[in-house]
Amino acid sequence: MPTYKRMKFEQAIQLIEKLEQQHRLTEAEYLQLLQYRFGTLPEWDDKSEEEIETKRHQLDEQLFVLARKHQQQVFGNRIYVRGLVEVTNYCKNNCYYCGIRRENHRVERYRLTKEEILECCKEGYQLGFRTFVLQGGEDGYYTDDRLCDVIRDLRSKYPDCAITLSFGEWEKESYQRFFDAGANRYLLRHETADEEHYSVLHPREQELAKRKECLQNLKDIGFQVGAGFMVGSPGQTLAHLAKDLMYLQELQPHMVGIGPFLSHGDTPFAKEPNGSLEQTVFLLAILRLMNPRILLPATTALATLSQSGRERGILAGANVIMPNLSPMAVRKKYLLYDNKACTGTEAAQGMEDLRRQMQAIGYEVVTDRGDYPES
Ligand code: 5AD
Repeated sequence: MPTYKRMKFEQAIQLIEKLEQQHRLTEAEYLQLLQYRFGTLPEWDDKSEEEIETKRHQLDEQLFVLARKHQQQVFGNRIYVRGLVEVTNYCKNNCYYCGIRRENHRVERYRLTKEEILECCKEGYQLGFRTFVLQGGEDGYYTDDRLCDVIRDLRSKYPDCAITLSFGEWEKESYQRFFDAGANRYLLRHETADEEHYSVLHPREQELAKRKECLQNLKDIGFQVGAGFMVGSPGQTLAHLAKDLMYLQELQPHMVGIGPFLSHGDTPFAKEPNGSLEQTVFLLAILRLMNPRILLPATTALATLSQSGRERGILAGANVIMPNLSPMAVRKKYLLYDNKACTGTEAAQGMEDLRRQMQAIGYEVVTDRGDYPES
């Protein structure tokens, strides 16, 4: 296998073209592509740093053009919105990266009541949302009975809406109950597909195998499933990213959520550097080419990292935005990372701004529920 030092621009382009045509690469090929774009630069052939940067940007552009082409073919210029309700920031887990981890005693904990959740969704419905994403930590209060009760109520009030859940790991029976109560989709990021890296990000009691099992169970039950990972999390290498892509290639989820790692001051990773915008958008474009029909959000983390993050994500092939519908009073408490964007166009109330922002780059925000296009 040629190393990135010797890989030529033309070869990198060929890999992108192969990905476009076949929608898959080998792990070695993903790694080569990532190394060509992001590998540290020794005396790379006989080119200057400047020339190399120019080449890298040319590569980005070629990739993004193809990603947009495929997005366009499936979805036209439509951007889907999902209204996000952050139900609870209690969590029994202790993920080293996450601001609402169990051992962060500086978080003011809250949980919404069923009535509050319904109120958020009511407001969301009036604003035009037809997908509600209920998200929360793994909170012992929210048992499957209690969640099913909320889901059933939502389902009967909003038969035309999609209900998406994101509450971490459960037994298969519980997932089945959520599904039977009327939930349609489930988001559970795998975070990293490498065992060893998983244990850098999580305490021992959490296991990648368990996470993967949950994702498989969700798929088997019939949920539209979202997996995903953080970009630039501590200890992550390009080889890990190649593994993430291979895992997603295997799992074939309907949605993939990726965003840059952003440090949170009250976690063990407080001093770790943030993930990069360039790497995140490059990966978004690869994911679009791997599966042109995938629902791919330009995440809040990406919008938090950079003013233009969301637009850059859309222009790299993302087609979903998830504005915040949580009550104003709790928004500042659901801080997975520092400076999390939750007002302006990140807020459901900022829909008009969001529409304009998307229009300015040639896209239209639509309100239909935007299910995965099944063929
Ligand atoms: N930076 C970026 N993303 C984070 N998440 C949690 N903590 C952070 C952080 N510090 C992501 C995880 C999780 C999702 C809900 O938010 O990937 O799955």
